[in-house]
Amino acid sequence: MIKFSVTSGHQELYPDSCIITGTFEELNLFPSTKKIDDVSKGYISSLLRRGALHGKVAQTLLLYDVPHLHNRQILLVGCGKKSDFDENCYRKLIRKITILCKEIPIIKILLFLSELNIKGYDNYWKIRQTMEIVNEELYVFNKFKNSKKTTLNKSLNEIILHIPNENELGCCKKSIRDGLSIVHGIKIAKDLGNMPPNFCTPDYFVNQVNELSNCDNVTINIINALEMKKLGMNAYLAVGKGSNYAPTMPIIKYRGHPEGANVPPIVLIGKGLTFDSGGISIKESNKMDEMKYDMCGAAVVYAIMRIAIELDLPLNIIGILAICENMISHTSFRPGDILTTLSGKTVEVLNTDAEGRLVLCDALTYAERYKPDVVIDIATLTGACVIALGHHFSGLMSNNKNLADELILAGQQSKDYVWKLPLDEVFQKQLKSTCADMTNVGGRPGGAITAGCFLHQFAYKYRWAHLDIAGTAWISDYCDKSATGRPVALLSQYLINRSSHKI
Ligand code: BES
Ligand code: MN
Ligand code: ZN
Repeated sequence: MIKFSVTSGHQELYPDSCIITGTFEELNLFPSTKKIDDVSKGYISSLLRRGALHGKVAQTLLLYDVPHLHNRQILLVGCGKKSDFDENCYRKLIRKITILCKEIPIIKILLFLSELNIKGYDNYWKIRQTMEIVNEELYVFNKFKNSKKTTLNKSLNEIILHIPNENELGCCKKSIRDGLSIVHGIKIAKDLGNMPPNFCTPDYFVNQVNELSNCDNVTINIINALEMKKLGMNAYLAVGKGSNYAPTMPIIKYRGHPEGANVPPIVLIGKGLTFDSGGISIKESNKMDEMKYDMCGAAVVYAIMRIAIELDLPLNIIGILAICENMISHTSFRPGDILTTLSGKTVEVLNTDAEGRLVLCDALTYAERYKPDVVIDIATLTGACVIALGHHFSGLMSNNKNLADELILAGQQSKDYVWKLPLDEVFQKQLKSTCADMTNVGGRPGGAITAGCFLHQFAYKYRWAHLDIAGTAWISDYCDKSATGRPVALLSQYLINRSSHKI
């Protein structure tokens, strides 16, 4: 992992670092660039006058041996028009710098971009974003590759962020602390998501959870298939019937609220299908491999619990991982089966590939026992959500406007966006069944919403939000497939926001 720190010290203290600083299109130098220009007796401004850099957003110019300067390299970055500069330009610059560092040996950076003012975004935000973007660009999953690239000594390993105002250092250090936990959490979620389904089995997941059992303020409770049977979680159990691995529902309880264990918890439920073949309603084989990512919701919840523990958040949080595998066998559940859910409501299975809602409905009913403050489920639930929102926004449905607004805000702050879909009564009739209380599919129109409506039937006793991350949990380009770790950033921001309300 890259080391991050903040300083307001002079650049001369960092002779072995590459200074990164900017210039606008109007050739309007940053204060720090101006300083370097003075030290180098006008070398920089003379280069700019001769057209070496126009200052367009993310244009770069790497300089070695600048006259009279002690630092080994300077990277000048174009920042566009001063009046147009916004948070998205900032993100673009950081991404460009990181990509450049993969190609050119820049080992240590002293970054001056925090002197750029962005309306509505402070240095805390800039630091967190920098950390997240750098780690995202440098992420590799090579556990199963024989040729692991080990460029450790020759590649970027430290970023020092220069904060001009010494008074801000405290807040910026907190940003580094929060950022480290979050980027670590994102990496955990990605690694888990990227694991192949013959390794990342339900048992493997449980082992990961058990690793947390010695943490302070944490208790682990594993609901196994036998217990599910006793409780009546028949919808959940049905989905796992065709698999060699028994369904399992690990629960991670974290008590961090200063007023004690009785304060109503925030409950997070993650869909954890370690593989979704579709069951008897089998999926087509094209891209079926990607259904190893169908546990990304659970991976996100697991990562969030680790972040909460590491940051000692002053909240009570319960993470429920709804784990099982949807396979085909003579023991599989079938289209036509009627299942009695934990709530008592009956469901007619019309498609065994709509399995996510079947595990989640029982997990949602199970969550009632905690008398939760809010419940948020995170699930790679519907292909329809990918069609509706593409790969940039996760779908959000909620029975509470306040909760939805808080999640939308956290999405905007973290740039891990969500978009609200209507959870309206009118969709409910698409789930009508001739012989049970409801069916498990509502047809193609509004497929993401009818899935949300299905869950809503089981989530009426508390404030609840549903995040459909089918389009955002992983990317699948032509030659690049990877879990994204989304929405770890969004949910950590939500929890951090909740934490500061309380203290
Ligand atoms: N895990 C899938 C959803 C999915 C599909 C996510 C493709 C990302 C890409 C889910 O279990 C599923 O199969 N949903 C069905 C529901 C349908 C049968 C009502 C779907 O979306 O096709
Ligand atoms: Mn499915
Ligand atoms: Zn699924």
